[in-house]
Amino acid sequence: MTAAPATPALPTTRPDGCPFEPPEKYATLRETAPTSKVRCPAGMDAWLVTRYADVRAVLADRTMSSRGASSVHVNPNADLDIDVSPGSIIQLDGAAHARLRKKVIAEFTVRRVEALRGYVQGLVKSHLDAMLAKPGRTADLVQDFALPIPSLVICELLGVPYADRSRFQRQSATLVSTDATREEGEQAYDALSGYLAGLFTAKERNPQDDLFSKLISTGGDDPLTMEELVVLGLSLLVAGHETTANMIALSTLVLLDHPDQRDVALAEPERAVEELLRYLSVVQWGVLRYATEDVRVGSREVRAGEWLVAALNSANRDESVFPAADKLDFHREQPRTHVAFGFGAHQCVGQQLARVELQEALTGLFRRVPDLRLAVPREELEYKHNTLVYGVRELPVAWG
Ligand code: HEM
Repeated sequence: MTAAPATPALPTTRPDGCPFEPPEKYATLRETAPTSKVRCPAGMDAWLVTRYADVRAVLADRTMSSRGASSVHVNPNADLDIDVSPGSIIQLDGAAHARLRKKVIAEFTVRRVEALRGYVQGLVKSHLDAMLAKPGRTADLVQDFALPIPSLVICELLGVPYADRSRFQRQSATLVSTDATREEGEQAYDALSGYLAGLFTAKERNPQDDLFSKLISTGGDDPLTMEELVVLGLSLLVAGHETTANMIALSTLVLLDHPDQRDVALAEPERAVEELLRYLSVVQWGVLRYATEDVRVGSREVRAGEWLVAALNSANRDESVFPAADKLDFHREQPRTHVAFGFGAHQCVGQQLARVELQEALTGLFRRVPDLRLAVPREELEYKHNTLVYGVRELPVAWG
């Protein structure tokens, strides 16, 4: 009797020397086994969904639960049976999810975010002033530019004192790390929750003109409990700066690599940012879903109780939707078709904000510092392979 072949591991290794390419195996899977079983680092098996159409169908399917969201499948220390907290917008389903989403979505509409554009431009300018005044004409673009700008914006919007950033930036990094032990993850979560509980209590007494104060005061006959406020606040704070900071730094590196495309990026930043979002797909391990009913995905029968990974980075390289998908091309038709922000009921709340931050950061940077270059050999750069959101750890740059 021959043993059944072992379930292959979820592909998690990018090709050598190609930091922007998703794992090579995805291309073959899209062709030959678009929805196939893999063993995840968290220990469970899941259906890996690699084609664009199937990824969108899974994410749009209301019978798919987000209880494991967003990417715990890549954390070897994940606890998959944990109860979903009532404030966890990203993990709740159905009416409970819609109730929370409704409470925050108005703050992130195109109109609301456009009103913040001038503020973002001011931050870009002041950070460039400080960076360019540095002795030696070198800087770490991550610490000096890419991280503080989205952190300051989300702090301003939520009403979190930026002076407290050492209390949330480190903990956020632990929460999106796949290397952190369960204890480290729990400690970071508890520390951040404790900090936010203190902040919400202070705002109850002394409300300000910010989203956290509004969440407390506009509950009407359906107020949020302190636990809901804290967990929702934590999701917004972590999601609001980690993702965008990584996108700003990685996009800068891509534009340094493609000087020929920089003029297009400066002339049409909206278009360029959409392509960068597609090309980089920084939510690098996809998003996890749990089938609550039997369902067909492509040609596969998925059973209730099985896990699925919607591979956003694979979907965004699907040639049937994006011709020459591995090429960065700022002239694509319908540049917004990508799924870098997810799709369906949980599609990113902060996407308009991220767009404005990226547009302003990239155009501000390359207009003001057209001779920006890497200050170290390319191969010395280290990338975040062990985090839910991909990025570059440091980006030493020089000018002049
Ligand atoms: C380039 C930057 C960003 C990327 C690539 C990104 C990506 C994503 C993705 C893929 C999801 C879907 C998760 C799922 O379906 O399970 C998501 C959800 C979410 N994002 Fe973002 N995001 C970004 C920036 C932001 C910002 C600036 C905020 C600001 C608050 C934010 C807040 C959220 C929230 C609250 C959710 C959960 C929405 C829900 O479950 O209904 N994100 N994001």
